[in-house]
Amino acid sequence: MFLSSNFCSRIRWLGQSSEPHLLFHVISSSSLSFRDALCRLFINDGWNARYLSTGTACDFLVHILNKNIKSKITPYLIPETHPKKVILDNIFSTTRVTSNLETLEQAGFQITHIKDSSFIIVAKHPSLKNYLFKLYLDSDSRTRLNKPSWQWLVDRCRGAQIIRTLIKKKKIKHFVVPKKWLYILPPIPAQGTQHLLVLLAEDMRLVSKSETKEAWKTVVTPEHLDELYCILSHGCGSNFLSSNVPYTQDGKFTFIDTEYPHRKINLEKIKLYIDPQLHEYWDNLVKTGNKRK
Ligand SMILES: Nc1ncnc2c1ncn2[C@@H]1O[C@H](COP(=O)(O)OP(=O)(O)O)[C@@H](O)[C@H]1O
Ligand SMILES: [Mg+2]
Repeated sequence: MFLSSNFCSRIRWLGQSSEPHLLFHVISSSSLSFRDALCRLFINDGWNARYLSTGTACDFLVHILNKNIKSKITPYLIPETHPKKVILDNIFSTTRVTSNLETLEQAGFQITHIKDSSFIIVAKHPSLKNYLFKLYLDSDSRTRLNKPSWQWLVDRCRGAQIIRTLIKKKKIKHFVVPKKWLYILPPIPAQGTQHLLVLLAEDMRLVSKSETKEAWKTVVTPEHLDELYCILSHGCGSNFLSSNVPYTQDGKFTFIDTEYPHRKINLEKIKLYIDPQLHEYWDNLVKTGNKRK
């Protein structure tokens, strides 16, 4: 297959630019012979021939993504050795499962949430019982704050990681955070916006929303508030406690929504959720900036 030099330089530019997802789109929506020609093009450019000739399509894609996106995704990629990796490959390798709601359901997913604020779909798959997915559909081209969907998913993983580190370091007992991994979707041709990743998260076995509201009113002690203050005052998590910090069947509160890894949080809002008898304690924490040692 012949690729014009103009086209080649455009492809190279996409690979180096801040929009490698466009390159991903070109590659994944192209025919096999075209992909083959691109491989040769990249080999000529000094890309690692081993990946291009022997690696899977995913290795290939990780490899050609530019350094910027690659370095952001890599820390959170589900390891090859993770016991669930092969199940993910099975689910996603034959058809473009994330094309639209219908293809998602055809692939066996049960959709639990369609979020209009973040545009993510939360879905479960029967072959991954203790996990859930957060993903974007190709049929949905909306973007928020000019940030590509892969970046939002990276941020969700990063947010969870920061909270996990804090929980460990500060020996926090009453709060937990789900493990989150990224999975690169195989390059199967698709219509619409070709989203790069899906996110796999531990299912935290939440109680109902009304039970969560009740728990925030009745279970919380000053010790809980010390820990909550520690996490929120570091700019992690969310003050929307009834939805984003629900109660689990294991008797802990969990930071499930971590898409803003670091931002200033309005701490006043916490009083909407907790027993009025604890307001003074909370105010004092906020006033004295009493971070947990
Ligand atoms: N790790 C998890 N375990 C169990 N349920 C979850 C988990 N993550 C999300 N959910 C469910 O999905 C809903 C939406 O997830 P969330 O991350 O808060 O989306 P958004 O960022 O759009 O608010 C939550 O309110 C919760 O019911
Ligand atoms: Mg939320």
